[in-house]
Order: sequence, then C-alpha cells, then structure tokens
Amino acid sequence: MVEFTLPRNSRITEGKTFKAAEGASNVRRFEVYRWDPDSGEKPRIDVYEIDMDACGPMVLDAILKIKNEIDSTLTFRRSCREGVCGSCAMNINGKNTLACTKAISDYSGAVKIFPLPHMDVIKDLVADMTHFFAQYASIKPWLETQTPPPADRERLQSKEERAKLDGLYECVLCACCSTSCPSYWWNSERYLGPAILLQAYRWLADSRDENTGARLDELEDPFKLYRCHTIMNCTDTCPKGLNPAKAIAEIKKQLVQRQQG
Ligand code: SF4
Ligand code: SF4
Ligand code: FES
Repeated sequence: MVEFTLPRNSRITEGKTFKAAEGASNVRRFEVYRWDPDSGEKPRIDVYEIDMDACGPMVLDAILKIKNEIDSTLTFRRSCREGVCGSCAMNINGKNTLACTKAISDYSGAVKIFPLPHMDVIKDLVADMTHFFAQYASIKPWLETQTPPPADRERLQSKEERAKLDGLYECVLCACCSTSCPSYWWNSERYLGPAILLQAYRWLADSRDENTGARLDELEDPFKLYRCHTIMNCTDTCPKGLNPAKAIAEIKKQLVQRQQG
C-alpha cells in the first residue's frame, strides 16, 4: 500500500491547538488539515483534543463535534452519515476512507485527517470533484438501448443477469479508490481511474444495455484504460469492499475477446 497524505502543492505549517475541557479523562487528539486557498495563508494542521466520553464513535462524529462545538470554520462534506452518499471521503491516518463508517477506535494515538490526496483543495477537507464527475459523465452512466421497450412491461433481467451487477452497483462514487491510485495521480487528465472504470464495467455487465460495442470503442485507448498497472491500491482502499481492479481486468478481457472475434 502506497501511503500519500498531502494534497497538491502543500507546504504545511503548524496551526492552532484546541485543548480539551478541564477534567476530561478520555481525550483523543485529532490533527486536521486546514487550508483556504483564497486566504493567502499556507496550509496548516490544527489540533483538536476531544473528550471521547462526549463524542460518537465514528471519525465523522468527531469532525461534526469540532464543527458544532469547537471550531465552526472547519469545512467538510457529508450527508448520509451511513456510507451511502460517498461525500465524506477523506484520508485518515494515511488511507482513503469514509469518515462516517470509520470507527475512531480503529486507530491508536492521534487521528490525522486530510482531504483526498492529489486533488485540488477547495477548502480544508473539501476536494474539487469537478473533473472526477466529468469523467463519470463521459462513460454515459445510464442504460443505452437500440430496440424499443416492450409495450406492456419494463426491460426484465433474469436473477443470474441481475447478479452480474453485484459488486458494481454498490459503488458510492466516493473516489477513495481513484485518489489512491498512482496511475491516476500522474495521469488523471487522461486516465479514467478505477472508480470510473468500475462504473463503465457496471454498464458493460448489464444485460439490458445494447451499446456494448460503442462503450468498448470508447474505452479502447492507451490512456483511458491501459494506465492501470494492477497496483491494487484501489481495491485495498475501497470502503465498500469493492474490487475496481477486477472490473478493470474484466473490461480488458472483453476487449481481448472482441479482438479474437
Ligand atoms: S489496480 Fe489499476 S486502478 Fe487500481 S490502483 Fe492499481 S493502477 Fe490504479
Ligand atoms: S469503487 Fe469503492 S472506493 Fe471506488 S468510488 Fe466506488 S465505493 Fe468509492
Ligand atoms: S456521509 Fe455519506 S458516505 Fe459518509
């Protein structure tokens, strides 16, 4: 596992320390990346001491406590707080994960919280996902058909056909995998990265989709697909337990099978 925690262009300075209240006996230390690119100031690490007897069990609980009770200037994304929306993805103690499903008790010592690596930072823990979602749109993440739908029912799948989407449909597009991938770090302008390729395979694997040929044509590109060198960081880091590297291998297999006719 390659660990990489610093966002682009970061030279980090020491920040403020917010001490726990007098008498707190169960204190954990959270070191949090802070940067407002518009401020003209350098990035810094602020330290927050939190009384765990008055905090929920997940890393997101600690971040919300900081925001609500200690320092309202801390900026981050979250919505569902149950691993479904993908918005609380960040780098915690060197590994990308979802703050809402990661238990503080999984770590000993200080909990170090950074934005997703190798992304531009909008503020603090908020990475700029614009390019990532433009890449997602580029693979046409919807059902494409040539034939008219049946008059009296929806397009059906057998149980076996539906099962082929297991391990794909669960992806919450958090980008933990793509931003842990060295190939994506260096080639994100042209390489689609594991998250988007897993999504591309989700539509190739869908028995109802009738645009397989055009989808494969789009992916048959030395940069979009073939920058994956099977380093496996993506699969190692996925907080939903998915296997983007396998999905990428399946796309490559479909391309070979097509060539062999
Ligand atoms: S297996 Fe491929 S996509 Fe996954 S981290 Fe490695 S190079 Fe990136
Ligand atoms: S494959 Fe996993 S890590 Fe990658 S975007 Fe989907 S849920 Fe996140
Ligand atoms: S808040 Fe939705 S996945 Fe964490």
